[in-house]
Amino acid sequence: MSESLVTVAYIAAGALFILSLGGLSSQETARRGNLYGIVGMVIALAATAAGDAVSGYGVLVAAMVPAAAIGALLAARVAMTSMPELVAILHSFVGLAAVFVGVGSYLAPSDLTGVEHTIHLVEVFVGVFIGGITFTGSVLAFAKLRGLVSGKPLLLPARHLLNVAMVAASVGLGVQFLGADAAAAPGATPPGLVPLLIMTGISFVLGVHLVAAIGGADMPVVVSMLNSYSGWAAAAAGFMLSNDLLIITGALVGSSGAILSYIMCRAMNRSFVSVILGGFGTDGAGPQKKTAAGEGGTATETNVEEVVDLLSHAKHVVIVPGYGMAVAQAQHSLAEVVKILRERGVEVRFAIHPVAGRLPGHMNVLLAEANVPYDIVLEMEEINDDFPATDVVLVIGANDIVNPAALEDPQSPIAGMPVLEVWKAKTTIVMKRSLASGYAGIDNPLFYKDNTRMLFGDAKKNVDLILAKLVESK
Ligand code: TAP
Repeated sequence: MSESLVTVAYIAAGALFILSLGGLSSQETARRGNLYGIVGMVIALAATAAGDAVSGYGVLVAAMVPAAAIGALLAARVAMTSMPELVAILHSFVGLAAVFVGVGSYLAPSDLTGVEHTIHLVEVFVGVFIGGITFTGSVLAFAKLRGLVSGKPLLLPARHLLNVAMVAASVGLGVQFLGADAAAAPGATPPGLVPLLIMTGISFVLGVHLVAAIGGADMPVVVSMLNSYSGWAAAAAGFMLSNDLLIITGALVGSSGAILSYIMCRAMNRSFVSVILGGFGTDGAGPQKKTAAGEGGTATETNVEEVVDLLSHAKHVVIVPGYGMAVAQAQHSLAEVVKILRERGVEVRFAIHPVAGRLPGHMNVLLAEANVPYDIVLEMEEINDDFPATDVVLVIGANDIVNPAALEDPQSPIAGMPVLEVWKAKTTIVMKRSLASGYAGIDNPLFYKDNTRMLFGDAKKNVDLILAKLVESK
């Protein structure tokens, strides 16, 4: 394939990737966005394989076919709640690839000279450094999310100093790397290999150390940050290989990952810098400690019959789904409940907090999967003022995102985090298994408010019971 044709294909793929990102920003267009991404990737792979730079198709096919099969199998099998783990391990591959590309392109014979050669060496060094951090950082993030290692932050006494020392040592090795190469006789074994490999080792340790300092509660932000790193590592690999598409794609992933990390931090009321520096967070990624019943007051328990009665007599209902709905997989039965209530003239809407669940858009994906109409699924800003005019709020497996302490208690670890103000409704029903805390590991005063009723039990089981009663009363 001629070089200009490859360039045209790359521009088309680049445009499709941008359209894909645009499409993914809303539920209605997300499927189309995904499709653009798939088509863009197929074009990119086909054009690269057909280009002059590639020979040895046997090796290419032998590597790509099993990889594609494993990828498809993993993606088809992964549970929504395990998505961050899968994303983390995929990032580690990008990081490792950047390390291999860097070392490989340094060892490959090159006819670059002068400034161009120096620029290439800088690209190699920086690419391997970012790739190394991304690789080991992502493997550790995967292990923490999977529960293979403890989610507790590792806080060494001089950890910031240690990080600075490792970065300084890498800069020193970089200077040595550039100098050694300039002094080498043509044709000799690349003399910068030793400083390059030592720096690779340091970047591996730095990746582990940076992520080890971050607690379980901040891991999703770390995954999105590593997503950004993996983008920059890919862009660096693109520079090394003089591949424009890899540079564009890497920059898109790098910047979108950074923006996503920022949005997540804002929604969790955490500063980006404090996440990166680590130390916050709890032991693991699941519900944290159990709060003893009655610790924060007396909670009023309700039952399915009362809930069905409240729902049937309400005019305006808002449903707030959270992580527990995802765990219980209650969305399909819930969609049926919503359908029946709407048929009976009740206005039912969903209120989605930006960090409900465990990954961005988690609730939107589950509700779309259950065919809940998009126009009744509203973002926090769109619906938060409507709670005083709401008859019944149904909180399903959500906790931190409806915690009034965020607004009422300046000492609370989540003070200042924007939350859904469900307690302002006439009646709030909270469906969960116990009074246990959520991700942030803190008690929730909502459970003890006068207008709150607790419906204890598994969310799916209770939604099924509500559905059965509603069908019965038809
Ligand atoms: P959480 O605060 O984690 O609360 C979930 C609640 O669901 C738990 O308290 C648990 O109580 C209940 N639950 C678990 N399994 C259940 C089941 N089978 N049936 C019924 N209830 C069940 O969740 P949330 O309100 O969605 O808030 C999300 C939290 O995750 C926030 O703290 C947020 O900052 C954090 N976070 C989110 C993200 C993103 S991007 N979404 C990223 C990082 C961190 P019981 O054990 O009593 O049932």
